[in-house]
Amino acid sequence: MRQGGAKESSTGVVCVTGCAGFIGSHLCERLLALGATVVGIDSFDDFYDPAIKRRNLNDCLGKENFHLVEGDIRELDFLEKTFRQHRPKCVIHLAARAGVRPSIENPLLYEDVNIRGTLSLLEAARRQGVVRFLFGSSSSVYGSSETIPFSEAGSSPEPISPYGATKLAGEALCGAYHRLYGIDMVCLRFFTVYGPRQRPEMAIHKFTRLLWEGKPIPRFGDGSTSRDYTYVNDIIDGLVAGLKRPAGFQIINLGNSRPISLAALIDLIGKSLGRPVRLEPQPEQPGDAKRTHADIVKAGKMLGYEPQVTLEDGIAAFIKWFRRQREP
Ligand SMILES: NC(=O)c1ccc[n+]([C@@H]2O[C@H](COP(=O)([O-])OP(=O)(O)OC[C@H]3O[C@@H](n4cnc5c(N)ncnc54)[C@H](O)[C@@H]3O)[C@@H](O)[C@H]2O)c1
Repeated sequence: MRQGGAKESSTGVVCVTGCAGFIGSHLCERLLALGATVVGIDSFDDFYDPAIKRRNLNDCLGKENFHLVEGDIRELDFLEKTFRQHRPKCVIHLAARAGVRPSIENPLLYEDVNIRGTLSLLEAARRQGVVRFLFGSSSSVYGSSETIPFSEAGSSPEPISPYGATKLAGEALCGAYHRLYGIDMVCLRFFTVYGPRQRPEMAIHKFTRLLWEGKPIPRFGDGSTSRDYTYVNDIIDGLVAGLKRPAGFQIINLGNSRPISLAALIDLIGKSLGRPVRLEPQPEQPGDAKRTHADIVKAGKMLGYEPQVTLEDGIAAFIKWFRRQREP
């Protein structure tokens, strides 16, 4: 897929929330390479080591068209001040508490950051004249949906975790703000994103680390659950395309549409890393979907989205990055 440019689309200043996170830092790098001016907002929260997030921004900090603003998206005054100063026309909202299992442990925190934070951002955006808003939603909204592949137009989503429910609520708020104020809104449902800098608690990163350290991998269930893993560059292609189109209010899946079972994934990582796999069987976890599988026809039509990276190539790229962290 061609890389649609923020530059040529004259999107002006783009605000990226969660800019220091896994996906946010890749997005900022791409936008800067395309010549956009980026205002990045992040609170460097403690979901995982904030020092990792500072490192994620190494390639952005120091660039004259990158402005890092540290603060919390739940604080409307802070957001309004930031928007007044930098005047973004587009917002890409990625800041969130991510993760299914921790949202079951701490549901009220997820509600606070993901729902109140999103609403605060929408309110600041409409008060300060933002014309386009992209929301980083999740395949978790589909939950136990039985219609495979998961389609945006299929039966109503059935989240099975507080995290999934907060993302669905975020989409509903985006819809309401579009209908009230006419802001173009694109909610992009990401399907398990991986690649260099992936969050340390996510499966591919965690399994690689355990294998590297010679430890067993806790395998939840019988290994038959499956996930649609999407390489981060493909997600960034979809986000950048979303800066230009479509108009109105849209919900669009961004996935790879080629799911793989947990057992096959562990096998692939073991082979790519060249390490023997030892498994530690564990019961299935509440909140975990049995399968995810994106229908990406709408993304193709509306965004020209077409994932480029196979799981084999993506895992190889991830492991190359992982090794560099361990063997500098
Ligand atoms: N990684 C995936 O597989 C995946 C899948 C579906 C959806 N998503 C969504 O994509 C987005 C990015 O995910 P990620 O994997 O890069 O996560 P991440 O945790 O690496 O990034 C999120 C960033 O948001 C920041 N943040 C958290 N709370 C904040 C607050 N109150 N104010 C300001 N900043 C705050 C964090 O410090 C972090 O840098 C999230 O919205 C997540 O729910 C991710």
